[in-house]
Amino acid sequence: MLNFDFYNPTRIVFGEGQIAKLRELVPQGARVLMLFGGGSIRANGVYDEVKAALAQHTVFEFGGIEPNPTYETLMEAIALVKAERIDFLLAVGGGSVIDGSKFVAAGALVDGDPWSILEQHAKNVKAALPFGAVLTLPATGSEMNAGAVITRKATLEKFAFGSRHVYPQFSVLDPTKTYTLPARQVGNGIVDAFVHVMEQYLTYPAGAKVQDRFAEGLLSTLVEDGPKALAEPHNYEVRANLMWTATLALNGLIGAGVPHDWATHMVGHELTALYGLDHAQTLAVVLPAMLRVRREDKRAKLLQYAERVWNIVDGGEDERISQAIDRTEAFFRSVGVGTRLPDYQLGAEVIGPVVKALEAHRMVKLGERRDVTPEVSRKVLELCL
Ligand code: NZQ
Ligand code: ZN
Repeated sequence: MLNFDFYNPTRIVFGEGQIAKLRELVPQGARVLMLFGGGSIRANGVYDEVKAALAQHTVFEFGGIEPNPTYETLMEAIALVKAERIDFLLAVGGGSVIDGSKFVAAGALVDGDPWSILEQHAKNVKAALPFGAVLTLPATGSEMNAGAVITRKATLEKFAFGSRHVYPQFSVLDPTKTYTLPARQVGNGIVDAFVHVMEQYLTYPAGAKVQDRFAEGLLSTLVEDGPKALAEPHNYEVRANLMWTATLALNGLIGAGVPHDWATHMVGHELTALYGLDHAQTLAVVLPAMLRVRREDKRAKLLQYAERVWNIVDGGEDERISQAIDRTEAFFRSVGVGTRLPDYQLGAEVIGPVVKALEAHRMVKLGERRDVTPEVSRKVLELCL
């Protein structure tokens, strides 16, 4: 097992009816800014529940944070924070709203242009406003991690940053608030959580038995309950398991002491920035191709994955590996997420621009062995057609 330093201070308040706890969770006397997205929380009652819980608090609002939250929009929120002397943020929504709030929390206190946070990988973040979250879409794990991904519209850049200053103080997870998710977002969430686990598990053996078994448990739960979440949108147990699985997939626990890949995510971010695909759509396209191109490097873990997640035990090694990758791709399709570029009306014309963007952003040594060069990324993209 590799050395690690695991720290996660986020308090999770889980279950039906827990939004009411905001009354105690949000500090009394705070000047609170509630941040949200394009309006789903008004349609499904979350907005009203949050406002009712905070009836005794001083609450300002900032709506309109878009999927793949943009620097341009978030700068308006930072201006509001400064104008109203806000001292606590409450993110209410999916990963985009929570990520956007992390940027606002750090950007409001940083010296100079907050975009420097992305350029400097948050090395210049020395503090951030405290904040909490109410999660409405299980997918990213942002509710219990210190990462965020921000897009700059003007330059078509989508960059990630991480800082221990932007862990949420708390996150409220009420599975009933996910009942209103459109099927597309349910499928996206399942794929995103699945690929988060794969980025930390499907590398090379590191003797991390517990991390492996946890990862396999999360993957098996997604395989078991993912399709049920689509078939029975009001099944509480299914939605509860999905929500907690997505959180555990990227809260640092399974990633402690093991090598990490993340090449699929980095290629995927360029596809979103250039062509507007949903985050999870890019992952569903790239991951199967990434595994096919790098199957020799990942051989031992692919065999373990085949056996423990898909129960594939018959046949030669190469056959088992091929089957495991094919089953992965079929699973993504079974939850409604297309796995090939033509599913999104794209083709070979994207390969050049995506490889160029990876080079421009210095994404030239990706993967657990830092050997995913632009040439390897090109081969991966060629298999996405
Ligand atoms: O904007 P509203 O109206 O709220 O609608 C949203 C949005 O259109 C809707 N939605 C959310 N909850 C709903 C709902 N609709 C009905 N009922 C509900 N309960 O869903 C749409 C998508 O929301 P978004 O927040 O964009 O989705 P997601 O949670 O998948 O977040 C994606 C973003 O997270 C980043 C991605 O890059 C992307 O920008 N990621 C963040 C990570 C992190 N912080 O650790 C890791 C991930 O790998 C990922 O990169
Ligand atoms: Zn992701």
